[in-house]
Amino acid sequence: MSALTKSFASAGRRGFSRCTRQRSSVTTELMENMDKKSAWDRFYSETSSRSPNFKNFEWFFGFDAVQDFITPLLQAASLSRHPVQVLDMGCGTSALGPSIYRDSALPVQVTCADISPVAVRLMREHIRANAVRPRNASSQIDFLELDCTRLDGHYGPSSLDLIVDKGTTDALLRSKEGAEKAASVLRQCLKVLRRSGSLLQFSDEDPDARLVWLEAAAQGQGLAAGDVGVQEVGVLRGVCYYCYQVTAHHDVNK
Ligand SMILES: C[S@@+](CC[C@H](N)C(=O)[O-])C[C@H]1O[C@@H](n2cnc3c(N)ncnc32)[C@H](O)[C@@H]1O
Repeated sequence: MSALTKSFASAGRRGFSRCTRQRSSVTTELMENMDKKSAWDRFYSETSSRSPNFKNFEWFFGFDAVQDFITPLLQAASLSRHPVQVLDMGCGTSALGPSIYRDSALPVQVTCADISPVAVRLMREHIRANAVRPRNASSQIDFLELDCTRLDGHYGPSSLDLIVDKGTTDALLRSKEGAEKAASVLRQCLKVLRRSGSLLQFSDEDPDARLVWLEAAAQGQGLAAGDVGVQEVGVLRGVCYYCYQVTAHHDVNK
């Protein structure tokens, strides 16, 4: 294990143990297997079985904390495409994707995708039961069981305007075998994003580590230093969270 991988792993354990403290052995199993569908299925089954009523589960902060990073990107994308194509990659049972769909003044097509069919089913049932009305009547939302390590098998080049990733790359990076998967996912995101489209990674990873990783993992995809940026989102329970923005300025599809 490289020094960098070690630092991701230990930071990951700290971050996730804060989020999931006082949870069951399912969580303990999850911590070691955050790149595994079966571990997430068990986690979401257990979480939902505790309460008869669906409740969105956020690994860390929700839509309110991140909407200011998302809205300008929707506005920029809407200049060239309607509806704006948005993917919440590794949505879990978070309200992020549904909130973008509900609140966007511009027409959006939001896809909430996760490797766990349990999470996808819970999200789909919740949206159907609540008949959420979007602010823009042309907006749409759908839910998809998708392994994001196979993103480019599902989406063609330049299909998406915005990919949001709240904790998904973190989960891959912090699992035993996930580092190469995370790098592959990043490269595929750059392929399926249209030129000037963005990937936003929300994470508690320190910029010293994540920026280096992003630049190294995207090597060969024509990513320039100026295509990767970071802003602070805020502090939650003593932990600082960041928004990493990767912009597909280059033509990776040549
Ligand atoms: C840390 S959770 C974050 C969930 C959600 N984004 C949130 O903010 O609450 C990571 C999510 O990534 C999903 N995931 C893990 N590996 C995946 C993969 N290969 N493809 C798609 N989703 C994956 C998990 O099922 C889980 O829902």
